[in-house]
Amino acid sequence: MTHIGSYEDRRKNFTWAISERELEYKDENVINIGEYCSDRICRMGKKDKLALIWENHTGEERRYTFDDMRVLTNTIAAYLQKLGLKPGDRICLFMDKVPELYFGFLGILKMGGIAQPLFSAFGSESLVTRLADAQTAAIFTQRKHLAKVRNILAEMPSLKHVIVVDDDGSRPLREGELAFHMDKEERVEHFDIYPSKAETPSVLHYTSGTTGKPKGAQHVHYSLISQYITAKYVLDLKDNDIYWCTADPGWVTGTSYGIIGAWANGATQCVLDSGFEASAWYRFIEKHKITVWYSAPTAIRSLMKEGEEPIKKCNLSSLRHLASVGEPLNAEAVIWSEKVFGLPFLDTYWQTETGSMVISNYPGMKIKPGSMGKPFPGITATVVDLKTFEPITKAGIVGLIAIKPGWPSMFRTYWNNVETYRSKFKNGWYISGDRASIDEEGYFWFVGRDDDVINTAGHLVGPFEIESALLEHPAVAESAVVGKPDPVNMEVVKAFIALKPGYEASKDLDLDIMNFVRKKLSALAMPQEIEFVRSLPKTRSGKIMRRVLRAKEWGEEIGDTSTLEND
Ligand code: WTA
Repeated sequence: MTHIGSYEDRRKNFTWAISERELEYKDENVINIGEYCSDRICRMGKKDKLALIWENHTGEERRYTFDDMRVLTNTIAAYLQKLGLKPGDRICLFMDKVPELYFGFLGILKMGGIAQPLFSAFGSESLVTRLADAQTAAIFTQRKHLAKVRNILAEMPSLKHVIVVDDDGSRPLREGELAFHMDKEERVEHFDIYPSKAETPSVLHYTSGTTGKPKGAQHVHYSLISQYITAKYVLDLKDNDIYWCTADPGWVTGTSYGIIGAWANGATQCVLDSGFEASAWYRFIEKHKITVWYSAPTAIRSLMKEGEEPIKKCNLSSLRHLASVGEPLNAEAVIWSEKVFGLPFLDTYWQTETGSMVISNYPGMKIKPGSMGKPFPGITATVVDLKTFEPITKAGIVGLIAIKPGWPSMFRTYWNNVETYRSKFKNGWYISGDRASIDEEGYFWFVGRDDDVINTAGHLVGPFEIESALLEHPAVAESAVVGKPDPVNMEVVKAFIALKPGYEASKDLDLDIMNFVRKKLSALAMPQEIEFVRSLPKTRSGKIMRRVLRAKEWGEEIGDTSTLEND
C-alpha cells in the first residue's frame, strides 16, 4: 500500500481542488507550466537536485539541476522575446530528444508562446502540413534536420526564425537561420515569466485523423492540474524517484509525462536519446538506478522477444513501479513483466485530446492483466451505445469510451477546426473514438478503434495523409491505406494501390513507393506492405471503404456492404 491511499478511498474523496491546493493555485491566479516545473521546484528547496540526466547513443552524458533548468529555460524565453516573438505565437520544436528540446518546451511556455512539438523523424511534407495549419512563427531544430526545414520555407511565409541549436560553423547558415547554443548563451538569472492564466493556450499537439489533415489538439496551462496529480498518483512519483519516460515529446506522452507531470512533481528524469535496443535499455536502467519506468506495449513486446538473457546480465533491482500507454497492453506482457522484473506493467489509457491519463490501473488496485483499469479519481468515464450515445449499464457490452467533459487537461479545441472539435461531443459526453466494455467490477477492457486511424507502435497514423502522399507518386492512380496486424507493432501500414496505365507491379516499384512515402512523411507512415489491385472497394458515393480491406487483413467479417458500389 502506498501513501496515496486506496483507489476506492481516493475515488470517494477526490476533487481537482486537491491538486490545485497542492500546487497553491487559486482561481484567477497566474499558472505557467514553465514556472511550475522549474522556478517553483527551486523555491521548494530543490534547486540543486538533478532535474535531467541525459544520455545519447554514444554514451555522452549531460546533467542539469532544477536551478540549471530554471536558468536555461529563462535564457531560452528571453532569447525568443528578443527575437520579437510574442505570447500566443506558435513555436515548433523539431529535434531529437536533446536537452534543448525539453528546456525549449518550457522556455516557450515561460514567454507565453504555444509550444508545438513535432517528431523529428517527420519528412518535409508531414512537417509543412502541421506548420502551415498552425501558421508557426519559429522553429527550433538541429543541423541534421535543417534540410527538411529548408525544403518547406517557400510554403511557409509565416516562419520567420529557424533556430539551430547545434550549429558548429561547418556549413554556413542561410539568411533567417540563427545559431543558438543553450549552454554557451549568457545565462538569464531573472526573467519576467508570462502571467498566463488557466485558459491561456500552452501546447499544440498534432494528432492523426481519418480524413483531412492532422488535427492540432490545443491545450491550456490549466492542464497542469491533471498532469501533476495523475503523475503523482498513477506513476506514484516520490521525491527520491529516478524516473524514465521512454516517449518522444513529439507525442503527447513525452510532454504530459516526459516533461510536465514529472517535473511539476520535482522528479529526477532520465532521457535516452537513441533508438530501441533491449540491452542498452537495461544498462540505462541499471546505470541510473531508475525506479519508475513509463513505456509502451510495442517496446515491451520487443523486450519480450529478446528474452531473459539480457535481463540477467543487469541489476535491475532499482525498479519499483512500471506503467504503459499507447496501445492495448496484452495480458501476456503483464504476466511476463511480473515474472522477469517482479513487477507488472500497469496499463494506462488516454489520448492527445485528454491531455492526461483518464483510465488506468492505480497503484494498490487489483490488476486484471489485459484490462486498462478504472477511471482516474475525478474522471467520470463510461461506455456509450454506438448509435444513441446513451451510457451502457450492462456489464460486458461493447460501446464507445466516453468521458464527462470538464477535467482540467481536456483539449480546448482543434486548431482552425472547431467543427471537428464539436463533433467529438455527443449527448453530454466526450466521445473518444475507442471501443471498450466494462466488467462487473468496473474494469475497462479495450476492444479497438472506431475509425480507420492506424496505431503502429503506439503512434497514430492517419490513412488520409499517406494516401495523399501515395497519389503524388507518378505510378499511383488511387490507393487505400489500412492497418495490418503485426506481432510487435500491433499494426503496420498496408497500402492497396491501383496503378496508372503503363505501370506494372514489381518489387522495384514496391520499394520505390515505400521510400517515397518514408521520405515525405516518416518511417512510421511508410507502408510495410503493398498490394496492387485493379480497383478499390468504394461506397456508391465514391468513398473508399477501408473497413472492407481492413476486415480481410484481420480475418474479420466484412459487415454491412449494402452501400458498396458494384464493381
Ligand atoms: C490508443 C497517446 C489501448 C487508443 C497517449 C487511443 C490505447 C490512442 C491505450 C491515443 C491503452 C492509448 N490501451 N489503446 N492503454 N492508450 N491507446 O493520441 O486508440 O497518441 O485513442 O495518445 O491510442 O493515442 P494518442
